Amino acid sequence: MTHHITLRRPDDWHLHLRDGAMLQGVLPESARHFARAIIMPNLVPPVVTGAQAAAYRDRILAALPAGSDFQPLMTLYLTESTDPADVAAAAASGLVKAVKLYPAGATTNSHGGVRNFDKVMPVLEKMAEIGLPLCTHGEVTTPEVDIFDREAVFIDTVLDPLRRRIPELRVVMEHITTSQGAAYAAEGGDRLAATITTHHLIINRNHILVGGIKPHYYCLPVAKREEHRLALRKAATSGKGCYFLGTDSAPHVDALKEHACGCAGCFTATNTMPLLAHVFEEDGALDKLEAFTSLNGPAFYRLPVNEGRMTLVKHEAATRFPDKIMTEAGPVTVFDPGYPVHWAVEG
Ligand code: DOR
Ligand code: ZN
Repeated sequence: MTHHITLRRPDDWHLHLRDGAMLQGVLPESARHFARAIIMPNLVPPVVTGAQAAAYRDRILAALPAGSDFQPLMTLYLTESTDPADVAAAAASGLVKAVKLYPAGATTNSHGGVRNFDKVMPVLEKMAEIGLPLCTHGEVTTPEVDIFDREAVFIDTVLDPLRRRIPELRVVMEHITTSQGAAYAAEGGDRLAATITTHHLIINRNHILVGGIKPHYYCLPVAKREEHRLALRKAATSGKGCYFLGTDSAPHVDALKEHACGCAGCFTATNTMPLLAHVFEEDGALDKLEAFTSLNGPAFYRLPVNEGRMTLVKHEAATRFPDKIMTEAGPVTVFDPGYPVHWAVEG
């Protein structure tokens, strides 16, 4: 039995850090384990311009624990009035590593997102020209489409037509949740990749709904049937370059999760790496964990891999993770896989 594994230090290619007191409270959880993270721009108001991304980056760096070398990789929130020249300048300066597409209404703070794709074509064409990736929240939001079908319909009616219209555009399908998403990413060639979250490898929709509603398992895209979870496990543990970790760790205070209209998001920054070691070991794929967490993402984003290393150790006793992170904004519940995990990060 393997009792430890050493990897290149991992990165998180999809992370919500928020702002203010919440940022201060949750940032150490990611900075402890991850070298870099792609930072989502869905603040209130959203991070739309290069100047806003620079100011947000400064606030993140100011909130880092002393001595941390964590690097936030900034993104811009695509709107119908985004200026292609501003995007190009923010990318050329090295500040911005991707642009995020939220279809309007898809999720938390997405009302400023895109309704009419014709309006964003000049930005997308500029991004294709300079090689800047588009990160997509891949769900349609039309009310006729069942929430469990939103991702598959997005692929057929939005993503595939868009990629045919601009074949040079580099796209990351964020937080895929279906077998259709995994299959589409695998067929897309080297301009297409997909992130997979930790929680979608662990829960299916029963976890949210059976035996009482479990708000801490509610996220978007919502977890699907078991067959889809198994397809995601197969994809993540395959080692294929088109799949890499994006935790989508999305903190909300408990008062807003345990609510009549609970917010979407699972907070996994604290325990993601031990949970992934458990998942990959269970599937006989510990040798593929480094590709998923530390190699495939930098290759797609055309960044160097990290020089540092991380060691995960498996103990006889179950690892104790905090139930909650106490922030000045309020308590945030840490994702509970529902079973004991024996792996821990040690160095
Ligand atoms: O569950 C989610 N939470 N999905 C998203 O797409 C957004 C995120 C958030 O910002 O809370
Ligand atoms: Zn997200």
